[in-house]
Amino acid sequence: MHAEFMAEGMRCNQKARRHPKTTIIGTTAEVNAWGSSNPCCRRVSVMNSANKDQPSEKTLKKALITGITGQDGTYLSQLLMDKGYKVYGLVRGQNNPRIAWVQQFVKGIEFVEGDLLDQSSLIAALEYCEPDEVYNLGAMSFVALSFKQAHLTGEITGLGVVRMLEAIRTVNPKIRFYQASSSEMFGKVRETPQNEQTPFHPRSPYGVAKVYGHYITMNYRESYDIFACSGILFNHESPRRGLEFVTRKITTAVARIKLGLESEVYLGNLDASRDWGYAKDYVEAMYLMLQQPAPDDYVVATGETHTVREFCEIAFSHAGLKWEEHVKTDPRFLRPAEVDLLVGDCSKAQKNLGWKRSCNFEELVTMMVDSDIKLHEAQLATV
Ligand code: NAP
Ligand code: GDD
Repeated sequence: MHAEFMAEGMRCNQKARRHPKTTIIGTTAEVNAWGSSNPCCRRVSVMNSANKDQPSEKTLKKALITGITGQDGTYLSQLLMDKGYKVYGLVRGQNNPRIAWVQQFVKGIEFVEGDLLDQSSLIAALEYCEPDEVYNLGAMSFVALSFKQAHLTGEITGLGVVRMLEAIRTVNPKIRFYQASSSEMFGKVRETPQNEQTPFHPRSPYGVAKVYGHYITMNYRESYDIFACSGILFNHESPRRGLEFVTRKITTAVARIKLGLESEVYLGNLDASRDWGYAKDYVEAMYLMLQQPAPDDYVVATGETHTVREFCEIAFSHAGLKWEEHVKTDPRFLRPAEVDLLVGDCSKAQKNLGWKRSCNFEELVTMMVDSDIKLHEAQLATV
């Protein structure tokens, strides 16, 4: 089974509940009670195997990640832990099933309840975690759904950002803040490639909400001297990508067709062009932005663009299949307004952050196909 999908077991990383509005979520066999009030739990979080070579909790840098249960949350949390951080992950809902999914990949995260829709839960989370850095990855992030749930998208993806910034201003304005801005803000692009100066022209409620998040981040930096950065990240993918996004939809379909479980897949606009990179590389840029002497905004991209059709060609041929025989189009997957072409100029990130990618387009596509084939083979073996 691909390493990405090997369950690594459950682990204890709780500490006592200190704030009445913050529930620390029990995730292991070692600590059974939810929101345990046992003060020993604080020590357990430092002494577990994920953290044992790290300095004492007093000297640990602490980070709170919203969107911990998403693709980027898993890669960023692992990166920060490898660097010796104590990582807290904000999770919404009373029994979020995605916690178990995250724990397949990362050990030692302490989960804290909170929701970007709920201001007081964000304040409580900051008071409890006392983070040095907050990475705001939480969002309603699926562009197609944002057309159907425009208001909710605005609340979470847009106003959620100001709620977190206000929480930081209230609790501790020294906290460094990363905002997950998006190339979707460029929308109907005014120039190619797109850089930090390219004007925005969003084409979806999601893109509009991200523009708000971007500008409010800039505004809090300028108004209150908060160390707030936006990463304008272009599409980034991985075997952990959500199944609703086109790349993973294709690689899952390739795996299922290869194994005889399906024969075709229905897609929308095959001509759309995206600048697709590897998520694991992109979270490194997030971290680097918050380590600079001054806050700033950065484009993170590969500088290459490929169509959905090209993605299909490589993915299917890697599995020994002809994409034309299996890919059909369906107008249900077209959007009311489309972003036709994205390609980023990341020279500022390369120069100031020393950031570079490790994985090219073909390597990304084939990694995702291989992972999905292994995942499906493993699932079939258990039936
Ligand atoms: P993702 O896999 O869709 O994850 C989204 C995360 O947001 C999930 O953990 C989700 O939690 C959380 N969330 C949703 N509503 C929330 C709420 N009301 N309060 C708190 N958390 C909430 O996204 P991703 O691909 O990791 O992307 C991370 C961030 O980067 C997002 O902000 C996205 O818009 C942005 N971005 C992504 C890309 C890309 O290509 N991946 C490019 C540019 C920008 P649940 O599990 O509870 O649903
Ligand atoms: N999802 C999906 N499903 N997209 C399809 C399909 C399909 O069946 N067929 C064609 N596409 C096209 C979409 O119309 C779009 O042009 C392109 O494939 C990529 O779609 P997604 O994978 O859904 O990603 P996205 O580009 O809309 O948004 C992603 O990248 C943004 C950064 O530019 C998301 O991760 C956003 O959260 C992120 O900000």
